[in-house]
Amino acid sequence: MLDVDTGVDDACALLLAALHPGLDLRAVSCVGGNAPLVDVVRNTLTVLGLVGRRDVPVGVGAARPLLEDPVDARHVHGSDGMADLGLPVPLLEPDPRLAVELLRDTVAAAADAGTPLTLVPLAPMTNIALFARLYPAVFARIGRIVFMGGGANVSNATAAAEFNVFHDPEAAAIVLDACAVHGVAATMYGLDVFYDPLVTDEHVARLREIDSAAAQLGAALVSFHHRRFASGGATIGDAGAVAMLVCPDAVRTERLPVRVELTGSFTRGRTIVDRRDWTGDLAHDPHGLAPAQVDVALEINGPWIADVWLRTVGGEDW
Ligand code: BDR
Ligand code: CA
Repeated sequence: MLDVDTGVDDACALLLAALHPGLDLRAVSCVGGNAPLVDVVRNTLTVLGLVGRRDVPVGVGAARPLLEDPVDARHVHGSDGMADLGLPVPLLEPDPRLAVELLRDTVAAAADAGTPLTLVPLAPMTNIALFARLYPAVFARIGRIVFMGGGANVSNATAAAEFNVFHDPEAAAIVLDACAVHGVAATMYGLDVFYDPLVTDEHVARLREIDSAAAQLGAALVSFHHRRFASGGATIGDAGAVAMLVCPDAVRTERLPVRVELTGSFTRGRTIVDRRDWTGDLAHDPHGLAPAQVDVALEINGPWIADVWLRTVGGEDW
């Protein structure tokens, strides 16, 4: 299940999750982030409709962060949040359940079936935090969380913080805390690896030759970022976190204590990734060991991850 703020790169992630034969996309929840919630929901339904995944329920979630006013990223993703492609309004409707209810039902159904769900938040974690607080016993039944957010050494929204965590730091802190309390494994696909899987102008030209909705949409999304950033290569962004599920060996992770900075004049929203050796004497540290032990992605085989996306979006013609 994905949680998204679609978003150009969330759309790339939806394409991959919807179409890869090794993945079983059960549901999608939406949250305000890159664009206002109404745009996020429309964009998400547009992508799923274009690739024929009308079977995937889409839940409408939080329009704003837990504490702060929303700050969108339309300067990156376009005024409609998804590259201003002028696509028709989708015929699909969202699921009648709220995002937290859809999360609850999807996690419970997977656990009941003996195949605990992998939850992939690719957006501010407001929905996931609300789910953790409203239904803690169901949250505990998640198989694993792989989230795009944070960074050990790299930031984007501010000099200290990555956009998804910056947008709702309390939510990220609640989710990490809940993972620690309930023993849910967490993987952080952060900015240290996010920019490496690149799709080039040449890749886009090949996608354009393929007669499928997925290939055409994938090409249009990536070339929007090529034009916007005047670059011949663009990251597939959030889609890398989904690709990692298919080829885990393409990413090197380290299990490390992680906290979210909630105060700080210039550091609010930073993920504090503790790379010290805790077998040494760190008794002087008044903060102690962070409860959340997270598999932090530190290195990536970018071409391999990008190739997974290109082959999936390009279909058999790639
Ligand atoms: C994250 O922020 C959003 O703009 C992207 O969709 C991605 O999830 C990167 O910092
Ligand atoms: Ca996103």
